[in-house]
Amino acid sequence: MSPFPQRRMRRLRTNPTLRDMLAEVQVTCDDLIAPIFVRGGEGLTKPIASMPGQNQYSVDTAVEYAARLLSKGIRAVLLFGIVDEAAKDDLGSAAWADDAPVQTLTRALDERFGDELLIIADTCLCEYTSHGHCGPVRTLHGQTEIDNDAALDLIAQTAVNQVKHGADIVAPSSMMDGQVGAIREALDAAGYEKTPIMSYSVKFASSLYGPFRDAAESPPKFGDRRTYQMDYRTPSQSSAEAALDLDESADILMVKPAGAYLDILAQLRDTTDAPLAAYQVSGEYAQLKAAAQNGWIDERGAVFETLSAIKRAGAQLIITYYAEQVADWLG
Ligand code: PBG
Ligand code: ZN
Repeated sequence: MSPFPQRRMRRLRTNPTLRDMLAEVQVTCDDLIAPIFVRGGEGLTKPIASMPGQNQYSVDTAVEYAARLLSKGIRAVLLFGIVDEAAKDDLGSAAWADDAPVQTLTRALDERFGDELLIIADTCLCEYTSHGHCGPVRTLHGQTEIDNDAALDLIAQTAVNQVKHGADIVAPSSMMDGQVGAIREALDAAGYEKTPIMSYSVKFASSLYGPFRDAAESPPKFGDRRTYQMDYRTPSQSSAEAALDLDESADILMVKPAGAYLDILAQLRDTTDAPLAAYQVSGEYAQLKAAAQNGWIDERGAVFETLSAIKRAGAQLIITYYAEQVADWLG
């Protein structure tokens, strides 16, 4: 390579058309999955304070939101359910109830949009347990813990119920060991062997989930999730988490959060052929929104930059609360 002044890298950056033609990463609507928070009631669009621009919906308004997303080119949604405290119990049995918000919305979306809309159901118990943990609580040797193995049947049963009501993909997010295998076995036994599992394989215990726990009204009532979600100081565990989920026949692996874990995503990209998803979580959205609302950053620029970084690191699928806005910006 001839040195400066013969060689000037800036020559490739002078013409805007050439810059566009040389672009190696481009975020499109088909990369994006929009989360939807649904609860009971009617005609509801309830703003989520910690996530400006995001709302809790009732089933009817959620269907309208999905219609809007579709008309703008966003064709995949990830559903989270919210229930009143009175509907929560120790096991989280509202997770697999036929008339629960996610199941009801799934039926409505499936009926209205069919194959046009990819419906992904988040499969977990924490939105439905009275204690807010992702599995049942037990006391062992005088210590309170989340009962991994007791969670498996409940999670598998939830996944089967979600698919029965029309979910196209289930996305287990509890970080219980063995959950993917348990779900696969239960789905196959119920005749749903063609339904893919998108596993939250590499999910870190993160302060960036804060706004979500308000949005889903599901913060843990005691302790935290560090006994089951990963510790960000031990990245070497990522490959085992991914390998175990693939062995249990996960179809898509997810890294979560996204922005602060691009190293993990890039490593996985290098070591597996499996499709990879990344979740730009509530705290990542809230940071961008807050700075933008204060006029401290250019929102559009910052959003495309962060999403491009996630794609560049190796994600084919990006779950982001910015999905609709990105579709608007793309026109
Ligand atoms: C619950 C779940 C969480 C998120 C997705 N599913 C919260 C948690 O694990 O505490 C976080 C999503 C976000 O922050 O946007 N299993
Ligand atoms: Zn959970």
